[in-house]
Amino acid sequence: MEPTFMDNTELAGLKANWGTISESRQELVAALVAAGQAHLFAGWDEPGTNDEAKAAFLDSLVKINGNYPGGLSGYIANARKLLAESKAGANPFEGLTPEQPEKVDLTSFSEAFEQYEAIGAGKFDKVGVVLVAGGLGERLGYNGIKLDIAVEVLEQTSYLKHYADNLLAMQARSASKRPVPFIIMVSQDTGPKTIESLEANHYFGLRKEQVHILQQELVPAIADNDGALALESAYQLILKPHGHGDIHMLLHTSGVAAKLAAEGIEYFMFIQDTNGPSFNTLPAAIGVSVEHGYDFNSLAIRRKPGEAVGGLARLVGEGREFTLNVEYNQLDPLLRATINPEGDVADETGFSPFPGNCNTLVIKVDSYVRILEASQGIIAEFVNPKYSDETKTAFKKPTRLETMMQDLPKLFGEAEKVGVTIFDRMWSFSPNKNNVADAAAKIASGGPADASATAENDFYGAGRARLEVAGMKVEEAGEKMILGVPFTLGPKVILRPSFAMTLAEGREKVAGGSISGEATLILEGADIKLENVELSGTTGLVVKACEGAKVTVKGKFENEGFELVELGADADVPEYLKIRGYRFENRGAAIFEFDEPGEYTVQP
Ligand code: UTP
Repeated sequence: MEPTFMDNTELAGLKANWGTISESRQELVAALVAAGQAHLFAGWDEPGTNDEAKAAFLDSLVKINGNYPGGLSGYIANARKLLAESKAGANPFEGLTPEQPEKVDLTSFSEAFEQYEAIGAGKFDKVGVVLVAGGLGERLGYNGIKLDIAVEVLEQTSYLKHYADNLLAMQARSASKRPVPFIIMVSQDTGPKTIESLEANHYFGLRKEQVHILQQELVPAIADNDGALALESAYQLILKPHGHGDIHMLLHTSGVAAKLAAEGIEYFMFIQDTNGPSFNTLPAAIGVSVEHGYDFNSLAIRRKPGEAVGGLARLVGEGREFTLNVEYNQLDPLLRATINPEGDVADETGFSPFPGNCNTLVIKVDSYVRILEASQGIIAEFVNPKYSDETKTAFKKPTRLETMMQDLPKLFGEAEKVGVTIFDRMWSFSPNKNNVADAAAKIASGGPADASATAENDFYGAGRARLEVAGMKVEEAGEKMILGVPFTLGPKVILRPSFAMTLAEGREKVAGGSISGEATLILEGADIKLENVELSGTTGLVVKACEGAKVTVKGKFENEGFELVELGADADVPEYLKIRGYRFENRGAAIFEFDEPGEYTVQP
């Protein structure tokens, strides 16, 4: 029997095709019509015309229905509710007053910093790393996945390899040697190349089983306030990205979060695709979460007022309180409407009282799993339609529901504790998001470039900082503008995670010595010690030691090292170089590699 809705003359084509549609697909069509989506099936061709397109359309509906907890009907219901709120102009911060969040300030390498690091390092086998890498990276415009870009070009280490190296270093340091779970969220755009990169590089030394790839899917676009799904053409929906908050849904629907919780994983650290310094902060951030009992720990930087990065605030209203990221364009009006008519201005520290969100998050797994179960992983969706006019009855173009991973605390109650840990910017937050031209424009207008060159600069900067803490004399060179973006000429210091993951480890392995402004030092391996090593002028020294190779490095080195060669905007070079405008050429650096266990001394 055909359902009565097909008496609608617009659905005559659907009626004629009904007998060719499987029962489960018929049920989905009926559910969609009941949810106000009859237009999706209006004007169907007679059987025999466009049958493949009809079948593909129904297949796509089945797939999309299965991707979203609550199915398409749930998605449409959520859309209607959010669109009604948006139309009514509901203020999400109504009745809430911003206050400073609970903060732990780790912007300097204090004793407390090292205590937190020690606690965090003791938890390395209880941590899983979650990498969200489904974004298109349109601002960077790189022709490939962002994870394949080199974070530094002395040795062309890709972001993905750098992250994997850190996981290997964590597990090498834990008593149990348990593989650190690595969850990577990809999208249709980034999935195939991410897997290709992992496979071509033998998972960078990780075990395949420790890597969990979760693919986020697109969601249907919405054409109007009634939640009508938008068609690209007959038999084809318009689909759009749902945002990085999908990671929560996928960790829930895949069962990975619950499984890892059952296996004893206590914390997840969420990182982005191109934030090289994330692992500098991991030990101390985990330590802070443990010590302060944080269910959700947002890593942050000191934020300049007005800077285009979300501000973390505690929002307090009658009987409720949340610590949340407030988007920078919402923060200023919120402050003006509540506590400060001047808006987002500096306090006595010279920075905004609301620290800048790095979107590096440490989440306690047991509370996380509880919240995922209660919400089915649908975290604080929002909608941001561009209306045609002030009547808010039509959109300029179809919209969709979106979700952001940092919004998880919107679901928290009194039982959950949220805190913010503030780190030095170079140490914690240097994403590679912008192409060179945009980066130069950002620098010109006083903002951070967040580009390949600045990300590499900060990579070396963190290495310098570790050497200084260890007691080495580090002379910093000046900056050079390359294609309008500043780059500190050195010293270029790479201390691989195998060498040091905490400040204490650096101190144990480096005694005295000095490094000049244009020198280069690369150390890789757990058992390398530096005793009063001096690198003068442009000297380059590279020491790599395999497991079981104990290497003591002493004395004063002098050579031509690595030279920075500027490339110019139109140079015919691979894209990873083009996006920074320079490369390094080896003019005679001293390179020592030890592939066999044993005891060695390196001297000039
Ligand atoms: P970005 O803000 O860098 O966005 O995402 P993007 O989409 O990658 O880059 P643009 O805006 O097109 O230039 C922050 C992090 O969230 C991930 C990104 O891969 C990045 O690690 N992301 C973003 C997802 O995983 N999925 C998404 O749908 C969006």
